[in-house]
Amino acid sequence: MTTQGAPPASPCPPQPVACVTLGRQVWWLVSAAADDPDLAAGVAPDGLLAADEAARLAALKIAKRRRDWLLGRATAKALLQAWLAQEIVAPSAANLIIQSETTGVPTPWLDDGRGRAPLPVSLSISHCDGHALCALIDRRGAGTTVTLGADMEKVEPRAWSFVADYFTPGEVAQVQQATDADRDAVVTAVWSAKEAVLKAVQLGLSVDTRAVDINLGGRPPSHDWQPLSVGWDARLAQPPDAALTGLWRQRGPYILTLARLDRP
Ligand SMILES: CC(C)(COP(=O)(O)OP(=O)(O)OC[C@H]1O[C@@H](n2cnc3c(N)ncnc32)[C@H](O)[C@@H]1OP(=O)(O)O)[C@@H](O)C(=O)NCCC(=O)NCCS
Repeated sequence: MTTQGAPPASPCPPQPVACVTLGRQVWWLVSAAADDPDLAAGVAPDGLLAADEAARLAALKIAKRRRDWLLGRATAKALLQAWLAQEIVAPSAANLIIQSETTGVPTPWLDDGRGRAPLPVSLSISHCDGHALCALIDRRGAGTTVTLGADMEKVEPRAWSFVADYFTPGEVAQVQQATDADRDAVVTAVWSAKEAVLKAVQLGLSVDTRAVDINLGGRPPSHDWQPLSVGWDARLAQPPDAALTGLWRQRGPYILTLARLDRP
């Protein structure tokens, strides 16, 4: 496959992979560990991992982390296989390697038997409550450097101190204005969107969460994707002409968020 030029216009992928437009197509997939006994037990199914990934799994000592990491890898590889199948014969899962950078950013590589080459996508992974959300965006031909962040959080009550400590004044106001029925989902969506943005800028929680200001635009939770807007301050260390855009939706008891960063 080529790593230059605009991505081919493509239809949405077959289920269970889905797509949504965030400036361009974002492909996304949610999986549940409960659907695979090996993944639920933190055991790698045959043929899933490359040797260095298997070594990484073996080094993870905490059972929950093993299960989360493994489900994230399995989900990301299934998503990448679906995406690659548009252009080439989809490789085996073990020939797709998801390397963790020192920052924690997951970077996908393709091993074609002669060597490894990076895939021209930005990939993001989230683990939540025995599920994994993975999303990718094609980086080719955007005219900017594009990075994606994705996050999944369970809607549940959170203490007011959580909102007071981690939210901006504008976000606090959105929580105060939410109906009683929507409040937990609004808090969860704002928090999840912050994490998605902090993944898109590849800084993670090394940055004060109040450096990111999420605006849901007064929209109530929906099972369809809807836009959110993102403000930020100098602590994100982005160039003045950077742009951040986002989407959010509910899916069962979970909130899913996507954030896209464009840097000239
Ligand atoms: C990134 C972060 C906001 C994720 O939040 P979370 O809700 O706790 O966890 P999630 O399950 O939603 O996301 C975890 C995934 O985010 C990704 N991630 C981690 N750090 C990231 C970063 N700096 N930028 C983008 N993505 C990152 C990884 O893919 C990770 O999963 P993996 O380790 O299995 O590959 C948070 O974990 C964080 O800031 N971590 C600090 C950075 C860090 O510890 N890096 C680890 C170095 S090995």
